[in-house]
Amino acid sequence: MRKPFIAGNWKMNNTVGESVKLARELLDAGSFKNKVLIAPPFTSLSEVSKIVKGTELLLGAQNMASVESGAHTGEISVLMLKDLDVNAVILGHSERRHIYGESNEIINTKVKLALHHGLDVILCVGETLEERESGNAEAVVKKQLVEGLKDVSPADIAKVVVAYEPVWAIGTGKTASPEDAQAIHLFIRNEVKAIYGEKEASELIIQYGGSVKPGNVVTLMAQEDIDGALVGGAALKAETFVPIMDFNK
Ligand code: PGA
Repeated sequence: MRKPFIAGNWKMNNTVGESVKLARELLDAGSFKNKVLIAPPFTSLSEVSKIVKGTELLLGAQNMASVESGAHTGEISVLMLKDLDVNAVILGHSERRHIYGESNEIINTKVKLALHHGLDVILCVGETLEERESGNAEAVVKKQLVEGLKDVSPADIAKVVVAYEPVWAIGTGKTASPEDAQAIHLFIRNEVKAIYGEKEASELIIQYGGSVKPGNVVTLMAQEDIDGALVGGAALKAETFVPIMDFNK
């Protein structure tokens, strides 16, 4: 039985004060029957970390550098995230891939570095509209998955969550139909089975991301291979995130 896992990706939103307020609201209102994580911007991690400490609300970062330390102006190290008791890091988000040019190779380096330091990883994969319309969605997702997980050990795969986020559904209000999302989720599970085996694949949490809202979460999560959600816009307000994080599977 895979425990549903809902993650809120706040992206480049919320000052420290706004982040603290939202984290408190979630703690007050949530039932935490599902696994729940929030990923505030780097500048808010320190204060939010103090609030969620000892609670069931997990703390995530939205990205990290591909090296541990040194002359990398503007980057944030895995060691700095560990220092703030961050539990997990989102890697390979489509905005990192498409706006900041992150390759599968760079993402793989980050995945291995995060796992090496004991952070869990949410590895994002997903095709663009053009790739979907040209019939290449599965090939693109497979490449992102295989190259993103290269040399990740069978022991470490248990610490990886895959988030399937079709790029055309992110922040657009367009959601993949539950059936289309399920088809890719099953494809991802089968690819993981081919690399790691039956047990690892059956235990893998695969989140769906892309315009998840209180009104569509239940039908999406009802699909057999959809185990949770990575939520952007609707994660920015307690009134929209609480119903998502408390959905009933
Ligand atoms: P969205 O973003 O929910 O606003 O579509 C999802 C994401 O990018 O993780």
